Amino acid sequence: MEPTTWLTEQVVASFDGTPDPRTRELLTGLVRTLHDYVTKHDVTEGEWARAIDFLTRAGHLTDDKRQEFVLLSDVLGVSSMVDLLTNSRSPDTTPSAVLGPFYVEGPPPRAHGDDIADGLPGTPLWVDVRVTDTGGKPLAGAVVDVWQSNEDGFYDVQLPELDGPVLRARFHTDGDGRLRFWSILPHEYPVPGDGPVGELLAATGRHPFRAPHLHFLIQADGHPRLITQLFVRGGKYLDSDTVFGVKEELIAEFAERTGPTPDGRALDGDWRALEFTFRIG
Ligand code: DHB
Ligand code: FE
Repeated sequence: MEPTTWLTEQVVASFDGTPDPRTRELLTGLVRTLHDYVTKHDVTEGEWARAIDFLTRAGHLTDDKRQEFVLLSDVLGVSSMVDLLTNSRSPDTTPSAVLGPFYVEGPPPRAHGDDIADGLPGTPLWVDVRVTDTGGKPLAGAVVDVWQSNEDGFYDVQLPELDGPVLRARFHTDGDGRLRFWSILPHEYPVPGDGPVGELLAATGRHPFRAPHLHFLIQADGHPRLITQLFVRGGKYLDSDTVFGVKEELIAEFAERTGPTPDGRALDGDWRALEFTFRIG
């Protein structure tokens, strides 16, 4: 037996006593894949030290507000791969998408018709969405959290000068499973670039941008929760999203409109209208 094969088999055998079979499967599979990787690419000690240094720096940067490991998983497409596997288990529902790092637990409750941009500059956006089950039956009282970037591509948590949460809200669907509110058109934005993941993107000539999107987290009693994003049709970076999060079924019309608004709000210029039905499992 080759010494490399012998080493791999020894490490795999070291997990023979793992009581939980799934833990054993995942750990031995990881060892085999990593061993295969370093042998196939003839990885040197210097290269491996560099990889360890990369992960060490990612760890030092990570705290309760910054998650460099999630970002790494995202830009390597692993988060989206796990997400695709999740979707393949429930083909009748609206596809999910990654949560991302900017969700804040317990967003401020808002009423239907409110403007969650609270007057921030941007193209006004009227959002009119419905939540149904997979048979199309409307789900009343579903909890719908929304969050998005501002016109410059920043989330409120990235703007310390902002006073309180903005462009994030919690709604409940009405008796028709429906929910309507005002916001502004979301903008493309870069993922955080000041850490090792930013270096990785720069060193490989990749841009750091996410395609413009609106985040949704939908929870209804007796249904699995849906975490997803709606992407602006015609927006930038739809075909090169840096976290590989775009799915065709999640690209929605943010239709250009002028003139009277659905709720009589007086607007001088153009506005946009988003209509979408979420089907949850
Ligand atoms: C999002 C942002 C990120 O930095 C990331 O890695 C994944 C998702 C987002 O806001 O959707
Ligand atoms: Fe986002």
